[in-house]
Amino acid sequence: MDRKTLELLIAEVVTQLPGSIRENIKNVEFIIEDLPHPSLSRQFGNNLLLGLYQGIPLPKRGEGYTFVLPDRIVLYQKNLERVVGEDNVWREKIREVVLHEIGHYFGFNEPAIQELMEQLDHVKEVRPMDDFSNYWKWIQEVFHNDEHMMNHTRKVFGYCVQILPDFPTMSEQGKRMTLLAAILHDIGILEAAKKYGSRMGKYQHIEGPPIARTLMMEAHECPEVIERVTFIIGNHHHLFQADGIDFQILLEADMLVNLANERIVPERLAAFIERFFKTTTGKRLARDKYLSPERVKGQKK
Ligand SMILES: [Fe+2]
Repeated sequence: MDRKTLELLIAEVVTQLPGSIRENIKNVEFIIEDLPHPSLSRQFGNNLLLGLYQGIPLPKRGEGYTFVLPDRIVLYQKNLERVVGEDNVWREKIREVVLHEIGHYFGFNEPAIQELMEQLDHVKEVRPMDDFSNYWKWIQEVFHNDEHMMNHTRKVFGYCVQILPDFPTMSEQGKRMTLLAAILHDIGILEAAKKYGSRMGKYQHIEGPPIARTLMMEAHECPEVIERVTFIIGNHHHLFQADGIDFQILLEADMLVNLANERIVPERLAAFIERFFKTTTGKRLARDKYLSPERVKGQKK
């Protein structure tokens, strides 16, 4: 593999990322080197190092972050050649390593990176995120760059993208409503905390819709979309009251993320999942994620 081709493969991975992620990769250089310095290899237990992220992860960049040398994402060609071997799975391997290091840049830990990669596998097929790049910028402002909220929102969006193909006959507008609801569903959370000293759903239901409405009007969404999305946002903690598939998909996506923090005893979890999840994909994802034998065992401890 020559360097130039390798560079092109890296560029391909980056340009194919959803807009919301790509546009947030700032001041990062992608570099190819033959091998890591021996001291670096030692530092990583002499494991075959394929790539490395060095720099200041995005969540750690505060106001003083100016005139700073770019972060480096380094790929080690000779090590990559060893793992790729004869199979020539270059594209896949490069994608895996680049996404992994980008995950570190976003400050994700290993499980979060794994989840991001799984989600991106599905996003590849639908790729609707690009149309929403303004919204991603806006919510980042509304959330004051709160990485937890941004991550939460990205994950919910990712799950909606995975569930949507269950409904191939859904209109483009329906899909747009679902995805907008995903991006904007928690938009009132900080305002609720500020006004009522509480992030409870009932306060978010009051504060979220007007903020979402303003953003959607700025984006010239059509009135039906604005009405529907604000309605979903204003009711999205009423778990069993979805009145349409767009609403249900949002609830399931949000629950797929939130179940990790929900205190449901393992015995009841299965029943809850069966009752709550209605879409085929939502149900499958919930079972895979929360009812796997290792997971249930872990919870019982
Ligand atoms: Fe949420």
